[in-house]
Amino acid sequence: MARSNFTVEVTRVRQLTERVREYLLSSVDGRPLPEYGPGAHIAVHTVSPTRGLIVRHYSLIGGTDREDDPRDTYRIAVQRESDTRGSAHIHATFAPSVRIEIGPPVNDFPLDRRDARVLLIAGGIGITPIFSMARSLARRNRAFEIVYAGRNRAAMALHDELAGLARDAATFHYSDTAGVLDLAAVLARQPEGTVVYVCGPVPMVEATHAAAKALGWHTGRVHSELFGAGAPCTPHAFDVKLARSGRTVHVGEDASILDALGAAGVPVLWDCRRGECGLCPLTVLSSDGALEHRDRYLSDEEKAAGDQMCICVSRTQGREIVLDA
Ligand SMILES: Cc1cc2nc3c(=O)[nH]c(=O)nc-3n(C[C@H](O)[C@H](O)[C@H](O)COP(=O)(O)OP(=O)(O)OC[C@H]3O[C@@H](n4cnc5c(N)ncnc54)[C@H](O)[C@@H]3O)c2cc1C
Ligand code: FES
Repeated sequence: MARSNFTVEVTRVRQLTERVREYLLSSVDGRPLPEYGPGAHIAVHTVSPTRGLIVRHYSLIGGTDREDDPRDTYRIAVQRESDTRGSAHIHATFAPSVRIEIGPPVNDFPLDRRDARVLLIAGGIGITPIFSMARSLARRNRAFEIVYAGRNRAAMALHDELAGLARDAATFHYSDTAGVLDLAAVLARQPEGTVVYVCGPVPMVEATHAAAKALGWHTGRVHSELFGAGAPCTPHAFDVKLARSGRTVHVGEDASILDALGAAGVPVLWDCRRGECGLCPLTVLSSDGALEHRDRYLSDEEKAAGDQMCICVSRTQGREIVLDA
């Protein structure tokens, strides 16, 4: 909302795995799109007839194993997470010539070009920013190793492209047959000074940080990005009472408070919609159940105080919550 969005056109769709589709998004007038570095992502805005505005974030892949994308094109890959939510809506509606609104690239997971030696770790769809980093490192002839874990080869997007790109530097781990990846062993064999970039499911990212800590590594040596909100939530519906207007808005079990207020036409501030930027917190006047804080913005003390919440991801375990709005 705060930054200026622009329109792009879907120019190509490619099925990468049963659940992952790659989309090429091109500028509508052939002009270059804003530049970005490895690890960057864009916010994709779409409107569902049933759910209203849907904003989801997708990493920019940057090109194939062989060539960079042209300056007027972005490449993303979207994994369908369920049959009803944002990623399913994208799979159902994004087709060549469809126009969509996106935000400019944002990079919360930048690759430091000065790193002497890099270990990249990807789990599942977490390959998207990691592939973009591998492209950058391979093109600059930098020393790196990449470990890509997934259930099996067929389920792993960009598997063969990565093999072509990284060659001997790539190791593939198939958990269907090999079980959980031993991250402690992967980190333990790294030469002194290796810097790690990891993107994948929460347990994988947490295990990487834990392994680095156990080895006595400085915390700055492990960089990570998570695709989802911090803690899982209990899916149940509740009502939000708005103290200033006296209105009550129902929040369905599969919607956030922010989604529900937006659909009801209540003006609210937001940007990241994933509990990180701190634009959406509202004052909580009362709640008949414990608050489920799922953001990474509020401090532990602020969460414990229970008088504010990030409405983009957090919920109540009760049936009614009263907000100062
Ligand atoms: C920086 C970044 C890069 C990403 N890159 C990729 C990528 O390259 N490819 C890819 O496939 N995915 C990527 N993702 C994940 C992507 O943005 C979506 O989260 C994913 O597609 C699932 O969306 P969904 O709507 O299907 O699932 P959902 O689970 O419905 O929605 C996902 C988001 O909405 C919130 N949400 C949903 N329901 C509720 C509720 N009831 N209450 C509160 N909050 C709720 C979730 O907490 C979550 O943040 C990335 C995410 C981030 C943050
Ligand atoms: S919109 Fe960024 S924290 Fe909620």
